[in-house]
Amino acid sequence: MLASVHIPVLVEETIQALAVQPGGRYIDCTLGGGGHAASILEHSSPGGQLLGIDADPEAIKLTRQRLKAYSNSILLINDNFVNLKAICYKYDFLPLHGILFDLGLSSLQLNGYGRGFSFQHRAPLDMRLNPNQELTAAYIVNNYPEAELAHLIKTYGEEGYSRQIARRIVQERPIKTTLELAQTIERVVRKRTKIHPATKTFQALRIAVNQELEHLELALRQAVDLLGFEGRLVVISYHSLEDRIVKQFMQQESKDCICPPGTPTCVCGHTASLRLINKRVITPSLEEVRNNPRSRSARLRAVERVISQDEHYSLVERLCSEAKVKANGNVWRRPAILKKLRKSFTLS
Ligand SMILES: C[S@@+](CC[C@H](N)C(=O)[O-])C[C@H]1O[C@@H](n2cnc3c(N)ncnc32)[C@H](O)[C@@H]1O
Repeated sequence: MLASVHIPVLVEETIQALAVQPGGRYIDCTLGGGGHAASILEHSSPGGQLLGIDADPEAIKLTRQRLKAYSNSILLINDNFVNLKAICYKYDFLPLHGILFDLGLSSLQLNGYGRGFSFQHRAPLDMRLNPNQELTAAYIVNNYPEAELAHLIKTYGEEGYSRQIARRIVQERPIKTTLELAQTIERVVRKRTKIHPATKTFQALRIAVNQELEHLELALRQAVDLLGFEGRLVVISYHSLEDRIVKQFMQQESKDCICPPGTPTCVCGHTASLRLINKRVITPSLEEVRNNPRSRSARLRAVERVISQDEHYSLVERLCSEAKVKANGNVWRRPAILKKLRKSFTLS
């Protein structure tokens, strides 16, 4: 089962950074095996609510089973987090006390399913999080021009041998499986380092297939607008490309002015929408890395929403007035829950 395979990373630190409180409402944008989700539900009980999103239908199916005990407090949606705002509005699930992104792949995706994410298991070159999507890694590998392949491997994999790898891939096409691709790369990158020679190319292909960086940027912007008064945004990333996006976004949105240095008076009109909670990134302890080597590259960053009372109340009002006119069968629209929610967000 998924949950028994994927060990969640930085769980205590995540709960603390999200400042999880009883009765709060949270979104886990990367539900995966539901490890973080279960912990959020536990700490937000009684009365907590969680909406879980995952692009992978298998993750939703397996985790729904795992979180069965919380079925009255959860709503699990198979979608891409790039649609975060639309999902929240559709289910009247706002304003939020906390939003979590635990980026990347779960262990089950890496080790199971046969989706071709790992060069250690023979599988077709797929790499789609959502199997209904059209673009696959096989299409990129077997159809992209050499220059475009090299650019992609360099940009998304930060691979120094990108041009040589792209040339070899083009020479050896068609390449159908993960192991064929890994062997092609091994014939080019002969230097032995701590990581397998195919690691960076596989990362690049996965990022390109799923438009991971573009989706992350878009989703972070949406997340801010959904947070209520002092709502928290927590992101765990696993490689420098993701972490750079998260860091720059959080730093920029926590500044009142983003004019270039040296500008005599502010012309940007930008105001801070976030406050940094930890000036420094949070990383796993040595003990966690020992117990779960996959956690070694994890980097957690957290921010708190800076929101005016007016903005906050307009979010709450919108939620409550819409709820009155909508059908009541949905757990999220039950008046009692809404009342509690409104109260929990009332400013003292
Ligand atoms: C590292 S796992 C999350 C593990 C989870 N926190 C746990 O405790 O089990 C990342 C999950 O995010 C999902 N994911 C990655 N990018 C996504 C996106 N753009 N939209 C929705 N889900 C995404 C993946 O399918 C995967 O299941």
